[in-house]
Amino acid sequence: MTDKAILTIGDRQYELPIIRGTDGDQGIDISRLREMTGMVTYDPSLANTAVCRSAITFIDGEQGVLRYRGIPIEQFTEKPNFVEAAYLLIFGKLPSHAELKDFSSRLTENELLHEGLKHQYQHIPVDAPPMAILSATLSNLACFHPQFLALEDPESFIEAAARLISKVRTIAAFSYRRSRGMPFVYPDPHLRYCANFLHMMFSIPYKQYIVTREIEDALNLVLILHADHEQNCSTATVRTVGSARANLFASCAAGVCALWGPLHGGANVEVIEMLERIHRGGMTPEECLRLAKDKTNPFRLYGFGHRVYKNYDPRARILKDASEKVFATLNRHDPLLDIARKLEELALADPYFVDRRLYPNVDFYSGILLRAMGIPTNMFTVLFAIGRLPGWIAQWREQHDDPTSKIIRPRQIYVGPPKTDYVPMERRSL
Ligand code: SDX
Repeated sequence: MTDKAILTIGDRQYELPIIRGTDGDQGIDISRLREMTGMVTYDPSLANTAVCRSAITFIDGEQGVLRYRGIPIEQFTEKPNFVEAAYLLIFGKLPSHAELKDFSSRLTENELLHEGLKHQYQHIPVDAPPMAILSATLSNLACFHPQFLALEDPESFIEAAARLISKVRTIAAFSYRRSRGMPFVYPDPHLRYCANFLHMMFSIPYKQYIVTREIEDALNLVLILHADHEQNCSTATVRTVGSARANLFASCAAGVCALWGPLHGGANVEVIEMLERIHRGGMTPEECLRLAKDKTNPFRLYGFGHRVYKNYDPRARILKDASEKVFATLNRHDPLLDIARKLEELALADPYFVDRRLYPNVDFYSGILLRAMGIPTNMFTVLFAIGRLPGWIAQWREQHDDPTSKIIRPRQIYVGPPKTDYVPMERRSL
């Protein structure tokens, strides 16, 4: 097995080391390429470029494999516990009973928002995008918790991570309540993580929302499935911001902004709107696929395709099964699930999608399950962010603790004008 690559440029040859991980892609180390050759590589969407060594999440896109700290994602479905999965991602091991108890207590102690942050909601328009509120409020945590701007010791890091993971629920629920003109419901320290979030979302004064075990398990599962996904767009954003030694709150706020995009986490909203359009008769499933294949318009089959998975996204398979189970338990039916199944069946038989190896991704069924819990469509990407937060924190910490990590500053190929002179106003053409 060779341990170096040979690059020939003109009449010169250069030896480049090959990097191997414990599984998956191997890499050609070009970290000294410019110094050796005077040239850079060109990979605009970084589809062929590893930007770090990471031990957190492993994906095999060809086989449709996803593992958190080596554990296959399917093994979290039996008794889904999002707080336990968050601990595993951040600290690299499954917690002991005492460790999980301590981490859960930290989340409970930090579930309230500073009242000053709560008052800020009064000045936000009721139709404000929840992702805008989320990114702004995560960043604002720096105003109310300045002691966590420099995380140089493990205790401060754990405390800051607990505050983010706990408060993100309260921030999200308060934005929903604001949008509905409803009174804010404070977190209940006696409730588990997901039950507490749904309590803040749906309880009303003197009538507490009581979550069923099925719905609580379903929400734990949805959050676990979204918890990390190696170097996706929003995680790469968190790493880039964190590489400048920006604080954890600012780095995660930036991750929310990247996740908001319809090609990324915002796709779960686009999927439901696409399914609802078909349900209303605005288009047939066949017309939807035709539109998605038509290159003259930006419409895509949302929830399909993936930069890494060239096979069925294992999360989509789990979410599809979970949706069917939850509806059976609730003895309810959602026509959008039938439409989603029909779209999947047509696409997986269509050469356009088959040839490009486009399969359902995490966003294709997630919205249907969130609808079953009563979560409104405009909150879906916020739920994605709540799930992804532990992954962002784990990735940020891995980079922060890596003594070899440096500020991320890519190069470019310049295609602008050659050197030219400034022209004073009086000599410019009209
Ligand atoms: C997430 O990276 C992650 O891990 C992300 C994520 C995570 O957990 O963090 O998994 C979460 O973001 C999932 C993806 C959600 N986005 C969508 O569902 C939006 C629809 N999907 C596409 O926009 C697209 O598939 C991407 C953005 C997901 C991936 O895009 P790529 O890898 O840049 O692929 P591409 O755009 O180069 O597509 C290759 C070909 C193109 O056609 P040709 O130029 O070969 O003719 O496939 C076509 C694309 O037009 N194509 C699609 C399509 N996805 C790709 N055509 C129609 N519908 C689609 N959904």
